[in-house]
Amino acid sequence: MSDATAQPHGLQQAREKMTEAGVAPAAIETFTRFYRILTSGETGLVREDDVEPLTGIPRHADLDIDPADAAAALGRTAICKLNGGLGTSMGMDRAKSLLPVRVAADGTVLSFLDVIAGQIRAARRATGARLPLVLMDSFRTSDDTLAALSRYPDLAVDGLPLDFLQNREPKLLADTLAPVRWDADPSLEWCPPGHGDLYAALHANGIVTRLLDAGFRYLSVSNSDNLGAAPDADIAGWFAASGAPYAAELCAKTAADVKGGQLVRRRSDGRIVQRETAQTHPDDMASALDATRHPYFHTNNLWFDLEALGAELERTGGVLELPLIRNEKTVDPSDSSSPAVVQIESAMGAAVGVFEGATAIEVPRSRFLPVKTTNDLLLLRSDVYDLGEDYRLNATFDAGAGESAPLVDLDKRYYRLIDDFTARFEAGAPSLTDAESLTVGGDWTFGSGVRAVGKAVLREPSRAAGSPDGTGQVPDGATVGPDGI
Ligand code: UTP
Repeated sequence: MSDATAQPHGLQQAREKMTEAGVAPAAIETFTRFYRILTSGETGLVREDDVEPLTGIPRHADLDIDPADAAAALGRTAICKLNGGLGTSMGMDRAKSLLPVRVAADGTVLSFLDVIAGQIRAARRATGARLPLVLMDSFRTSDDTLAALSRYPDLAVDGLPLDFLQNREPKLLADTLAPVRWDADPSLEWCPPGHGDLYAALHANGIVTRLLDAGFRYLSVSNSDNLGAAPDADIAGWFAASGAPYAAELCAKTAADVKGGQLVRRRSDGRIVQRETAQTHPDDMASALDATRHPYFHTNNLWFDLEALGAELERTGGVLELPLIRNEKTVDPSDSSSPAVVQIESAMGAAVGVFEGATAIEVPRSRFLPVKTTNDLLLLRSDVYDLGEDYRLNATFDAGAGESAPLVDLDKRYYRLIDDFTARFEAGAPSLTDAESLTVGGDWTFGSGVRAVGKAVLREPSRAAGSPDGTGQVPDGATVGPDGI
């Protein structure tokens, strides 16, 4: 922590840096509010005694929406994908959505962006809805993303932009909270402020007004790394009929879900609020994680009534009172010995507490297929999912019968970073449909046509087992089972 005198100076420097760079006033004020929270030591804890679990919400599976109403609501829905993050956990410094994720029937390699474009164009063809796509990009993801989408000249509709830029803010040196200087690459002095920046960014770019003017009423927002969040007419129809300003899509937790973040109902005013793991008191952690008490987790798929959202942005000048997330990284994410920095961030879903009458719906897990790690990526590339003609990823296991995707656990030393992962799976993902899990220890390179079955395990290749350099090769066509190859 910095000493007391350095803090205001750091804030002043950061504000000057943002002003000079032409950052939008709403983003500078949001940053200032968070900086003050950061230095005040405020914890933002939400105690278990002050909340009730959120239960009894409608289920997607039980919806009975008149198809005409569903189609009408989808016809007034715009799609927003959050695409400003950089996938730094996988060692990336570009948009994660540029990564190849599937191969189409004709052999074309498809990125997340191709699949998203495919889902939207297929839904347009099937329903006649206009479904504009508006991505929230950051200064580091916009150029690449627009270049990748330029192969779909029909994607932009109604004169609406395909993306808008989120804000940027200085990374702060962890020990002084002053803006960091990094002469080797000054662009690394900046970061996007998390997806909670959606509100300031929508406001600064006038996007809500443009969508309303073009005749849209609803906004469906999701992460570009979640290919499960395809356009959904039934949810649009339900949301329109609910009259709510805001709705979150939640999934039922299973025993394997040990996520702490969740929506809860505040006892004092009955409002639904988000409680992140970081806002959970250590004494409350066991109850927060107890799936019988808090049965859902948040998918980050949200629905907004654009009129209500526009009114809130107008009222607040785009500065929504969201809780702070303190994210610690290194200034150069690819160099762990570079100086430690703090990034001030916030979460989009925390805005639930701002909207009176906000609601939630339980959706099937197929709407939640996030790629946070290379383990997730391997699963999505594998035959556990089929790519439909509508570009949806359909699970080949029977989720309705309680089956779930196999658990993939690759040795972080050799597979965490995307380049390392790619080099070891150049011949393609193994078949995982007959696997309960795949655990890889050590440095293995996979041949083509490999199959994992049961609780498949590869143990660290050792000299004793005939590997002179400690690396192993899984031969073409091999089967990996509980006892290895
Ligand atoms: P995450 O925080 O889960 O992932 O963002 P990330 O930022 O892509 O990856 P890491 O943490 O650096 O490894 C979830 C979604 O929010 C978007 C991301 O693009 C992703 O779709 N996002 C995140 C933004 O749009 N802006 C941000 O500032 C942060």
